[in-house]
Amino acid sequence: MSDLHIRHATLADIDTVLRFWREAAEGTSISDDHDGVARLIVRDPEALLLAERDGLLAGTVIAGFDGWRCSAYRLAVHPGHRRQGIATALLEAAERRFAALGGRRVDAMVLEANERAHHTWDAAGYQREDHWRRWVKPL
Ligand SMILES: CC(C)(COP(=O)(O)OP(=O)(O)OC[C@H]1O[C@@H](n2cnc3c(N)ncnc32)[C@H](O)[C@@H]1OP(=O)(O)O)[C@@H](O)C(=O)NCCC(=O)NCCS
Repeated sequence: MSDLHIRHATLADIDTVLRFWREAAEGTSISDDHDGVARLIVRDPEALLLAERDGLLAGTVIAGFDGWRCSAYRLAVHPGHRRQGIATALLEAAERRFAALGGRRVDAMVLEANERAHHTWDAAGYQREDHWRRWVKPL
């Protein structure tokens, strides 16, 4: 996609990204606020990838690597730009980052009811594992 530009988000992008997620992402995250996104960018300035078209935000993914696990979060594409390969391009960029850092496998948490997302992860080569459940504890 020649007109698609993928770059790392900076602190200056936070408000735009939060607005974008309200419109484009599936649900909300416990970290969907200014401090939450700022903490991510300060801790790992290369984790939040933005896809822009004509200077406007069209998609996001967080490519998180903690030295052990590669996790893709917040994959979202603007409703007006879907089915144009933007999620595919973002996942390819995330995977290039993980591979360069020595990552071995990518994880994604995907809601059971989000069928569109299932198609997307499947098309990108991801396989669903049925033998896990998420265990959580808010801090
Ligand atoms: C899921 C999402 C990120 C896909 O983004 P996208 O840019 O439209 O995806 P792509 O264009 O790269 O699609 C790649 C492939 O995934 C599959 N796919 C994507 N959307 C699909 C849909 N609505 N129905 C069926 N297959 C779909 C297709 O195989 C597609 O290839 P094709 O268009 O050549 O047939 C986007 O729909 C979105 O932002 N949804 C809301 C947020 C969300 O659910 N994120 C995932 C959280 S786990």
